[in-house]
Amino acid sequence: MNKPFISTNSRSNADLDQRAIAILRENEWGDYTLPTKGLYPYQWNWDSMFVALGFSEFDLDRAWTEVETLFQGQWDNGMAAHIVFRQDDPSYFPGPKIWGSSHNPENPPTSGCSQPPVAATIVKDLYEKNPAAGKQRLEEIFPKLMKWHRWFHTMRIISGGAAIAVTHPWESGRDNSPDWDKALADVDPTGIQPYERKDTSHVDPSMRPTKFEYDRYLKLVEWGRERGWDHANITREGPFAVADPGITFILMRADRDLRSLALLLGKESAAHEIDTWLYRSQHAANYLWNDEIDAYAARNLRNGQHADGVSSVSFLSYYAGIAVPKRDARLQKTLDRILEASPYSVPSFDPEHPKFDSCRYWRGPTWAIVNYLIARGLQEYGFEEKAKRIRTDTRKMIQTSGFFEYFDPLTGEGAGGNNFTWTAAIWLAWASPMTD
Ligand code: GLC
Repeated sequence: MNKPFISTNSRSNADLDQRAIAILRENEWGDYTLPTKGLYPYQWNWDSMFVALGFSEFDLDRAWTEVETLFQGQWDNGMAAHIVFRQDDPSYFPGPKIWGSSHNPENPPTSGCSQPPVAATIVKDLYEKNPAAGKQRLEEIFPKLMKWHRWFHTMRIISGGAAIAVTHPWESGRDNSPDWDKALADVDPTGIQPYERKDTSHVDPSMRPTKFEYDRYLKLVEWGRERGWDHANITREGPFAVADPGITFILMRADRDLRSLALLLGKESAAHEIDTWLYRSQHAANYLWNDEIDAYAARNLRNGQHADGVSSVSFLSYYAGIAVPKRDARLQKTLDRILEASPYSVPSFDPEHPKFDSCRYWRGPTWAIVNYLIARGLQEYGFEEKAKRIRTDTRKMIQTSGFFEYFDPLTGEGAGGNNFTWTAAIWLAWASPMTD
């Protein structure tokens, strides 16, 4: 079992650069990369894209390959799945049989939902590193990205709305965030098949979701499987549909980047289609804004109820390209308060909220990948000091604790899985002094 630790002698930055490269290499599984051996033995969607960013610092060809293998699991309806299984590994639950999503027998088996679409933005980054080397690969990946974004804009929007729904907390990438608590409590888990968790044999159970949550996660998988993974139907009628500020903002950013790639490739009609998606952005941001907490917050699409706490993804509005001056003044105050309360920012949930839990996954811990996205947006909008603070915090956590899955925002201690590829990737691409 991985125990968190604080090393007494923090290693030199050059050693950390080398160690980060080694972590990516050790977790390569042929042409794709695992989040970390043991705990997560398959290819995960957004993990792989951050990993591609990490690879692009020292092996750009391998970075493109990572993106290409992820799309081997793309569904005919456009969805890029959250996990691409390829083989059944008994150390992980729930595997391909539980998901039962044989969408296309020619492709590898996958899970039945998606994950935050950081891919188009990262593809643009890879292309810009070496346009000549990337042009052909960009041509090939572009239609797949387009199809996936179209899937979000048709299958995950409830008619008349604009914010993107998640129909399973796993789709958000923020599995047990308090953002889902109320909507998840409405899911009746009666009748689920008996099951045995595997995650809690790899990691301390106090750092993982509870049984209450897990029962409902599995109910949602069973529900989707019984409906043959008809995504439109699941979004419209399923037991769980919550508008997620994380995916909504990440997709807005990815749409803008995809649009510039479309123009670069001379695909005017694709750019036009993306314009229609972007047109709705402001409306989505309005829908998510919660006046009571001065932040963007998740919102239950079945009853309009807002989540009542601030998640770190609230601050992705800048990354998304959303700027509303009156609101931003309030959002900045919220960010100031949270930075003040957490020495190792940005905590995944408000440290002054009663539901904050500094070690439990998405209920408090700081995640390097989210920090990277938040800081990227803040930097673009001229909030340089805050972007710098977030980068320095990320650097310090990795220097003192190592490449953990996530970190305690109060102490900087690493938690969850160790030797984690996305933390190594963010070190290489952004947090290491090498990138100064
Ligand atoms: C957990 C995280 C998710 C991540 C996956 C693999 O499920 O919540 O965001 O993609 O692990 O690292």
